Amino acid sequence: MLPIAVLISGTGSNLRAIHAAIEGGACKARIVAVVSDRKSAKGLAFARECGLEHGVVPMRDYADRDAWNRGLADALEGFEPALVVLAGFMRIVSPEVIARFPHRIINVHPSLLPAFPGTDAPAQAIAAGVRLSGCTVHVVDAGVDTGPVLAQGAVRVHPDDTSASLHARIQRVEHALVPRVIDQVARGTLELGPNPRWHVNDPGDDMFVSPAVLA
Ligand code: GRF
Repeated sequence: MLPIAVLISGTGSNLRAIHAAIEGGACKARIVAVVSDRKSAKGLAFARECGLEHGVVPMRDYADRDAWNRGLADALEGFEPALVVLAGFMRIVSPEVIARFPHRIINVHPSLLPAFPGTDAPAQAIAAGVRLSGCTVHVVDAGVDTGPVLAQGAVRVHPDDTSASLHARIQRVEHALVPRVIDQVARGTLELGPNPRWHVNDPGDDMFVSPAVLA
């Protein structure tokens, strides 16, 4: 079982999806810690209910951003995760954190990157008038929502969509895709590194097309 740490800032619906996939035997991982930058993150209550190790590393407890990043990396290292999953973590982690977990931090973002990086990607997609958006799971590098793409799933943008309705549809795909990527890493089918490599001829539709594109 791949030991993973899950970083959250809010609801934690992706955390729930990962946990459910693990419990159901669809994801060969073990959540060794849930870490949040916000004490009030709903996902922390879920972690508590499930008896998962959890902790909070609030920015205000540290002198500055560098100290906070160091504190976060120290806390994470204590749990010895083989993979760190940013699942709705609303902070940018520093190059120092990335260096301490080289090629072992992944993120899920609610757009088809490289389109619409940064905040409120669903609203950006609506404003741009695109008819198709989705989510991307990628390796975290020093940029904002950059780094090698590991998986993407698409959804239609409906004419009457709001940022919230589009985001909700995108999240249904995230909940399928994120546990799948973790499982592929756990099985060694997907090897993370400077250039992530699939040990299959074609990672296939499971990783790059979602049935939701038809919805
Ligand atoms: C997700 O939509 C993810 O793409 C973005 O933040 C959201 C977190 O949602 N980075 P949740 O906390 O997992 O419900």
